[in-house]
Amino acid sequence: MNAPTRLIVDVDTGIDDSFALLYLLGSEDAEIVAVLSTAGNVPTAQVTINNLAWLELCGRGDIEVAVGANGPLSAPLRTTEDTHGPQGLGYAVLPQPTHRPSDRTAAQAWIDLTREHPGELVGLVTGPLTNLALAIRADPELPGRLRRLVVMGGAFQHPGNTTPVAEWNISVDPEAAAEVFAAFSAVPEDRAPIVCGLDITERIILRPEHLHRLAELADSAPAEIIRTDDHPSTRSATSNPVVRHLSDAVRFYFEFHRDHGQGFIAHMHDPFAAAVALDPGIATYRSATVDVETEGRITRGQTVADWHGLWGRSPNARITSETDVDAFLDDLIHRIAGMAKVVAASSNRTDR
Ligand code: BDR
Ligand code: CA
Repeated sequence: MNAPTRLIVDVDTGIDDSFALLYLLGSEDAEIVAVLSTAGNVPTAQVTINNLAWLELCGRGDIEVAVGANGPLSAPLRTTEDTHGPQGLGYAVLPQPTHRPSDRTAAQAWIDLTREHPGELVGLVTGPLTNLALAIRADPELPGRLRRLVVMGGAFQHPGNTTPVAEWNISVDPEAAAEVFAAFSAVPEDRAPIVCGLDITERIILRPEHLHRLAELADSAPAEIIRTDDHPSTRSATSNPVVRHLSDAVRFYFEFHRDHGQGFIAHMHDPFAAAVALDPGIATYRSATVDVETEGRITRGQTVADWHGLWGRSPNARITSETDVDAFLDDLIHRIAGMAKVVAASSNRTDR
């Protein structure tokens, strides 16, 4: 096998960020170098606890977690507990982590790690771009040192999910997003950031039957069946701890999507971006020049793509357009299930 892809993962964990982390932890072709916390779905301190807790639960408390900025570059912080639950993990209550975050900030970790490993690391951002923007302000050469950057964010030929035109991650910190896209105008087009917007991520639809299959693959019993008419207090009783917590998390996300008229489903925005970070070959792309609206009275946070060079500026983004959704979902449940099974087996061994 080729050497694993080494990643810096900047997240606002978050239910679908949790799936992204577990997907990468379950991927033999991935090596997470650091997990950086950004304020978004929930405040940074809670994101940090969530990151530490998932890593420990999965036996990877050795991975660095660095704390990011407490809020956007200039806008006040908004969080979305109604989407992701009071702690960002839906109904899941993970064991309190015992590890602590590292001493450096998330922005410093972006700078240090890309200096130590120039051209080697893949950046994955599945939350607001605040930490990366701060890092680039301090070190404008940073974009040129990344092997690749993959961002979950934006809505291009698609409605927003936060305002009629803006997607959540961009909408939380439009100034940061605008700065990052501007900074990447300087890198060659074949290394322009890969952007997974709602146009594609809202097509990545997880359903209760996928979770059921994931539990089966992990040998987790009893079989995991989440129903839309379950009693509100229903929580998972399945034996595998990773599957159990993930199930309690995604139940909340299913309910959120149902209560917003989208069906008893969950959009897997962030794990799709994680898969693209590992293997860009799973999707097709269209190059464009992307800028972010920061002024508009009703359009703030909108990602505007110039597909035809009308601005006369070179492309600074590769926008994901097509993928095999079923193949991705199959990959997602297999990788997470495989990891969950290994984690349970190793904790059984230590219990003996
Ligand atoms: C994005 O917003 C967040 O709530 C999700 O975690 C995802 O990163 C989708 O718009
Ligand atoms: Ca996210």
